[in-house]
Amino acid sequence: MELAKNNSQLAILGIESSCDDTSASVYMNGKIYSNVVASQKIHEEFGGIVPEWASRKHQQNIVPTVSAALQQAGLGIDQIDGISCTQGPGLMGSLLVGHSFAKGLSLSSGIPYVNVDHIDAHVLSHFIDGDIPPLPFLCLLVSGGHTQIVVVRHDFEIEILGKTIDDAAGEAFDKAGKMLNLPYPAGPIIDQKAKMGDPEAFQFNTPNVAALDFSFSGLKTSILYFLQKEVRKDKDFVAKNINDLCASIQHTIVSYLVSKLEKAMKQTGINHIGIAGGVAANSELRSALHSLAAKHKGVAYEPKFEYCTDNAAMIAYAGKVKLERKEYGTLTDVCFTRK
Ligand code: KG4
Ligand code: ZN
Repeated sequence: MELAKNNSQLAILGIESSCDDTSASVYMNGKIYSNVVASQKIHEEFGGIVPEWASRKHQQNIVPTVSAALQQAGLGIDQIDGISCTQGPGLMGSLLVGHSFAKGLSLSSGIPYVNVDHIDAHVLSHFIDGDIPPLPFLCLLVSGGHTQIVVVRHDFEIEILGKTIDDAAGEAFDKAGKMLNLPYPAGPIIDQKAKMGDPEAFQFNTPNVAALDFSFSGLKTSILYFLQKEVRKDKDFVAKNINDLCASIQHTIVSYLVSKLEKAMKQTGINHIGIAGGVAANSELRSALHSLAAKHKGVAYEPKFEYCTDNAAMIAYAGKVKLERKEYGTLTDVCFTRK
């Protein structure tokens, strides 16, 4: 299974199913032709992702999603040169649906396939289109499952400089939201309510961990104890102060993330910086990124909004990078849940 065409004409079908979004995308001639995402509403009522439901929904969605991506791109499967698929990290049951589908499609069609690392793909979403950062490039990856600072070196080699030792930044938003009686995922709602609140109204402890690593579990406990104490005094405390609480919690998380990114800039001397992952959609984080770049006479980069949360466009693009290097997958490759 070798590529027939030259690199610039490759048509790649990307498939993503690592968590609760089923997505398929076609990348061709240097641009995205389709990026179909089937989201799963069912988890909202449980206040978080139920892995068993996620896998079942992927099973329902995978064929219609891939068909829609090919149709929107105006291509048949026989016009695809490579299939790329998320191998991990993620939920095993979710990964298995997309990965097994991609391997099966590769086997039946004779089209080569490549494995893509979900975290690498989030970082590489900066290079799909729009303002493309020069290398080396420093990126803060913040999603529901991951928090890392990485440097993208020449040839797209990605080195991890620091990562969370417990919860991810998105998880901190979502768990804080649950304590504030907000539905899942709470990140976007906290973002909206924070716009109407005072970020200095309440102070929460920022976790203290070495170097460029992160920790969010202490913050979660600090919010919980604070709310328990206030609710004992006034049972309506959360409802009365919801905007200030959202603004203060968001400000604590964003300031912490940005302080680590600044540390990484000083350590590496790199001043081309970016954010990726679902939390990269956060408006305070986006503006803090620009202020940080300006402070260090650097340049800030944000991927397009639709490439921030889980999507297959980033998998198709990362797949292109791997196909160009002829880093093919094999039919005995297995998924992984953690890095
Ligand atoms: O990258 P993503 O779609 O999935 C994972 O790979 O985890 O990220 C989802 C996370 C959720 O925790 C969600 O609450 C958070 O991204 N998120 C936000 C915002 N939009 C999504 N967090 C803060 N502010 C936002 N505007
Ligand atoms: Zn993700």
